[in-house]
Amino acid sequence: MSLPPVIREWVSLRGKNSLGIAARAQYFTQVRSLDDLRFALDWADTHAAETLILGGGSNLVFAGDFRGLAVQVSISGRCWQAVEGDAATLELGAGEPWHECVLYAAKAGYRGIENLALIPGTVGAAPVQNIGAYGTELADTLVDVTALDRTTGEEVRLSNAQCRFSYRDSLFKHEPGRFIITRVRLRLSRSLPLQLEYRDLKEYFSEQNTRELTPSDVAQAVMAVRRRKLPDPSQIPNVGSFFKNPVVPIAQWHQLKAQHPGLAGYPDETSAKVAAAWLIDQCGWKGYRNDRVGVHNHQALVLVNHSDGSGQDVLDLASRIRADVLSTFGIELEMEPGVVGDLPAGPSDGF
Ligand code: EPU
Repeated sequence: MSLPPVIREWVSLRGKNSLGIAARAQYFTQVRSLDDLRFALDWADTHAAETLILGGGSNLVFAGDFRGLAVQVSISGRCWQAVEGDAATLELGAGEPWHECVLYAAKAGYRGIENLALIPGTVGAAPVQNIGAYGTELADTLVDVTALDRTTGEEVRLSNAQCRFSYRDSLFKHEPGRFIITRVRLRLSRSLPLQLEYRDLKEYFSEQNTRELTPSDVAQAVMAVRRRKLPDPSQIPNVGSFFKNPVVPIAQWHQLKAQHPGLAGYPDETSAKVAAAWLIDQCGWKGYRNDRVGVHNHQALVLVNHSDGSGQDVLDLASRIRADVLSTFGIELEMEPGVVGDLPAGPSDGF
């Protein structure tokens, strides 16, 4: 029998959130199995401690220290199941690093998630915001999610439909704290068509015969495009897109387009996703920086922590940007990352 996970006190979360914010958790533990997870939750119940489930910390802003038990889900495992013809199901532990799983599947010749290369974070975090990039989203291949339902204490399997996915949204955002994701299953195939419609990918492959491309080639292309446009969180701390692209009714899109012919976005029949980056850029924020935080100079959607910025610094900047976009375009931007912790951050404990 394995030992229960250790619960540590006042642990720095600086290296556990991709914005590099120096917040701490009053209690912290790392769980590697369902039993560990149950132990941690029981401990939290016994000590009347709130819990925070941490994956890669790539979609969180710590406004201050977290008073409660932060649980880092490190459940590993990659397992192929139900291989039938060209298709196969890949089951992944929630603690697996997402990007490594993308490369792993692509190397095996399976298609379906190669456009999601280099997205930071863990497998368990991926369904929460239905990660998406370059014309693909997780919901396109996800079969089901295994999760611990805290209302019953039972492990449940939620089908793709039950996860209620939409653009950057899922059941897990609507019922926060209820489900703790432990495993994810994806249906991949060696013969799915590659998604190369996104402008940046088209440009990347313009000279090549795309019929011969492998999913690894596409993953490499996505990585090159992302590296050109987006800051590497290990070099310049960030959480990727800080705002969602707002979805507006199609009539509002046409009105805005008439006023601002350069407006970028993705209209369909009834609504349009407006490029938040374009709105922020037009308001002059791209490349802005103060002595701690700023807006990335190649992608206005990404806020960055230049030098020991606090969560409050990042949130203040986000508020100023939101106010500007609202007064200029009449559009309210919605933040993508969650905000956690409400105590003023204490001195870093050097982790
Ligand atoms: N644009 C600007 N200024 C900028 C950046 C972009 O005007 O600083 C314009 C571009 O000209 C383009 C449009 O905005 O026409 C869209 O830009 P981009 O193609 O970079 O995509 P996005 O809509 O800004 C979304 C995702 C990204 C994802 C890309 C590619 C959201 C919130 N963001 O960004 O996701 O990588 O599409 O599919 O949907 C992430 O989640 O962290 C992330 C980076």
